[in-house]
Amino acid sequence: MAIEEIVHEIKENGIYKFQTPFLKKIDVEDLRFLVKPLLEEAEDDYLFGKAARIGPYQSWRPTPIFDLFSQPLFQGIAQGFYEKAPSFNEIFVTHEFRNDLGTERNGFLHFDRIPTLKFFFYLTDCNKDNGAFHYVPGSYKLGQQLRTASNAETDVYGKIKNRLEIDFPDLGYTKKNAVPIEGDAGTLFIFHSDLFHYGGAIEEGREREIMRLHVRP
Ligand SMILES: [Fe+2]
Repeated sequence: MAIEEIVHEIKENGIYKFQTPFLKKIDVEDLRFLVKPLLEEAEDDYLFGKAARIGPYQSWRPTPIFDLFSQPLFQGIAQGFYEKAPSFNEIFVTHEFRNDLGTERNGFLHFDRIPTLKFFFYLTDCNKDNGAFHYVPGSYKLGQQLRTASNAETDVYGKIKNRLEIDFPDLGYTKKNAVPIEGDAGTLFIFHSDLFHYGGAIEEGREREIMRLHVRP
């Protein structure tokens, strides 16, 4: 699909999913190999396992991570979405392997407090039992309104309302309204964080790894 059509889809619905795995398994393994040490040395403050912030894609030159995120398709989508060259990007990787510490913030149905366009890769096969990303179809524009209103209410980041079941119970949205994106390692989708979403909660004995590029105007 052409860049313009992908951008249109994201602007309308907050999400675009590529139909087939975007990356081959062998290329996914290259990415996993590169980020493995960073995940291992990450702080233990992520309730679902390990999470690491690994810098902007430019800092990964010359590796497959740079090649992946610098490609014209991605840059074109980001620029098309924001209608200018983005000023900020950052890569995150996570490895979820535990559920005994409680629910991490991303495990609640929410929209992000800081609006962000995210390129989301599964590095392992993901289904609804091992942390697949879930989203509520049709929630993007309502999320945009709620996020704007929430941010206008307070300057204290920790007090900004963004969890549907906790902060907006009257709206009636629950995780039951969400659908999973299930897919093999190498699956890619792009979403805007105003879309109601959650993920990362795994069943006993399961795990997942993902990589995301966050982009802001
Ligand atoms: Fe989020």
